[in-house]
Amino acid sequence: MIEKGKTYVVMGLLDCDSIAYAIGQAVEAWGGKVIYTVQNERMKKIFFDRNKKWDQADKDRLEVRYCDVTQEAEVQALFEGIGPIGGVTHSIAFANPKTCLGPEFHTDAIEDLKNGFHISAVSLATVARYAQPQMADGGGVVTLSFASQLAFAYYNWMGVNKAALEATVRGLARRHGKDNVRVNAVSAGPLSTKAAGAIPGFETLGETWSQISPLPWDPEADKAQVAQAAAFLMGPYAQKISGQVLYVDGGASVIGGTLLPHERA
Ligand SMILES: NC(=O)c1ccc[n+]([C@@H]2O[C@H](COP(=O)([O-])OP(=O)(O)OC[C@H]3O[C@@H](n4cnc5c(N)ncnc54)[C@H](O)[C@@H]3O)[C@@H](O)[C@H]2O)c1
Repeated sequence: MIEKGKTYVVMGLLDCDSIAYAIGQAVEAWGGKVIYTVQNERMKKIFFDRNKKWDQADKDRLEVRYCDVTQEAEVQALFEGIGPIGGVTHSIAFANPKTCLGPEFHTDAIEDLKNGFHISAVSLATVARYAQPQMADGGGVVTLSFASQLAFAYYNWMGVNKAALEATVRGLARRHGKDNVRVNAVSAGPLSTKAAGAIPGFETLGETWSQISPLPWDPEADKAQVAQAAAFLMGPYAQKISGQVLYVDGGASVIGGTLLPHERA
């Protein structure tokens, strides 16, 4: 699925529940080397402190670097210092839950909207720009999206950011085709993570998925399936796929209305 022995960068590690961590595990299971990024040094400390069951050998095994994706110089320095890579996954998003998410869509918090847009959509272009020179033999850039074609309760401006992210995927796919670099998104169903927990009302989405996903959907266990799709898109088996949004959502995205009782598992 990925090229054995090659290095893949997975950005957006917060804790072991992060989708980034599951993607790193999928890459390692297929014989790749993983470099994770966290937002800053404090986050790295929090990551290791939260994992009390890990001994020093476990901690030493993980290669973790810092990179705030809103700081262009940090993104540039990260990739310049990393050497050749097979691909990169951008598993990063943020929107102030108090002003950009929740029961009311309207907001006056323009600076929060701009910051959320920068982190959640624009930063994919910064990552692709500086990662591309390290993929001289071609490679895959992948990002994580969520149901941008629909308006879900509470998700508000993050839904807008995800639509912008998917448009960025298409623009980057066009720009980097000549570099033999592919750019794609995985649109995942709801998964239990820190970011998801910060979205007011997110728990209702699990219930919604049981009504709209033809396949059974497990917000814990299915993180591994989402991770495998992201690893696939970074790797050489996806060599002619670019500019796409691959839905790993149990099929929920194509269902009109809700499933009737006889259609449910
Ligand atoms: N959890 C879900 O249900 C779900 C579903 C579909 C898509 N996604 C997307 O998956 C991605 C990963 O989210 P997750 O659910 O694993 O949550 P998470 O909280 O584990 O990961 C989000 C990461 O974004 C990082 N981040 C925020 N601002 C940053 C910045 N300025 N610079 C660098 N990193 C920054 C955080 O530090 C964190 O590591 C996000 O894009 C999210 O929208 C999540």
